[in-house]
Amino acid sequence: MKLNDFNMTKEELENLYNTYFYETFKRFDFVAENGEASYVIDENGNKYLDFMAGIAVNSTGHCNKNVVDAIKAQCETMIHASNYFYTIPQAKLAELICKSIGMEKIYFQNSGAEANEVMIKLARKYGKENYGPDRYNIVTAYNSFHGRTLATLAATGQPDSAIQKNYDPFIPGFTYAEFNNIEAFHAACTENTIAILVELVQGEGGVIPATKEFIQGLRKLCDERDMLLLIDEVQTGWGRTGELMAFMDYGIKPDCVSMAKAMGGGMPIGAMCTSSKLALTFGPGAHGSTYAGNPVCCAASYAQINEILNNNLPENAKVMGKVFMDMLRKLPCIGEVRGKGLMVGVEFEKDIATPVKYECAKEGLLITAVRPNVIRLVPPLNVTEEECKEAYEILDKVVKRLM
Ligand SMILES: Cc1ncc(COP(=O)(O)O)c(C=O)c1O
Repeated sequence: MKLNDFNMTKEELENLYNTYFYETFKRFDFVAENGEASYVIDENGNKYLDFMAGIAVNSTGHCNKNVVDAIKAQCETMIHASNYFYTIPQAKLAELICKSIGMEKIYFQNSGAEANEVMIKLARKYGKENYGPDRYNIVTAYNSFHGRTLATLAATGQPDSAIQKNYDPFIPGFTYAEFNNIEAFHAACTENTIAILVELVQGEGGVIPATKEFIQGLRKLCDERDMLLLIDEVQTGWGRTGELMAFMDYGIKPDCVSMAKAMGGGMPIGAMCTSSKLALTFGPGAHGSTYAGNPVCCAASYAQINEILNNNLPENAKVMGKVFMDMLRKLPCIGEVRGKGLMVGVEFEKDIATPVKYECAKEGLLITAVRPNVIRLVPPLNVTEEECKEAYEILDKVVKRLM
């Protein structure tokens, strides 16, 4: 049985969604039927240049051959075993990740939010075991985004935003401070603080890079008070910002780093990696998940990460990011073009991000709107200059029309 053949009318399809789905996303008006490298192809054969990449996931393009081959091969061998067993893809992937990014231990999860969730749990356990019951508070940044589970929503520094509304009461133990303001973080840390959790580029918050002084200041602050520096690299990780991990550009090593999105080549996998300082904090029974570290996801991730390493995609992200951002600065109505590598934000002088997104889709370009006046562009890391030019030209046409 092949489920992805479009053998019904668009109305019939929409009807199925309207009848059965909780629609928490506003979907594009076409079916994403095929993915080929940098393009999505719809049910009528129309091609869309994909600069949203499945929300910063498809960083080696759609259906990368090595990733597809790895998934197929693993499916024929072992699809799921659980964490009661040794499985080879899990072990090989753990070694590859830890060695590539200079961390000592790994814990696999199924998503970005889960990776952050376990990072929060680990920090609390470390605090209580080493300092007693009151040392569990974590300071995070205003405007951050760490996920949609209850703990990661509480960690997300967007009080009163739509994503948090009516989900209170939030779990206690989080305090927020202004991003890129080291004095504010100093002031927010108390004797109950065990960790600081930040992104290196606030993605959902409008593509705002952290400054080096800020991150190095946080490292120093954490060292002085034996607090843990937790870095959320769910979106920035695995080449997106021009380094394998964004923290490598900041001259620091986190105590714990979370990752997901790009590492799986489209399969649901996340992880947190820690330094040896935390190696003994988790033992048998401390945490668990039925699927986490599933062999097919690990095989896909192993192929995806090798693809990123072997083709030096972080370097391409660095070079193309600069080329692309220089192009985008020529667009009309620009407030600011900012970002790191191929994590690019375009801030307009007016609140036109949502109409720009939908008009771009009509013209064959896929992007996301992250703020009323900010669009985010996260093309695959192997994107070419021609594809960047194609995206620029569509944007130019659309913005001129909407200004
Ligand atoms: C920085 C960051 N952390 C966490 C998450 C949550 O990841 P997921 O949607 O896989 O749960 C996201 C998702 O966009 C993210 O950008």
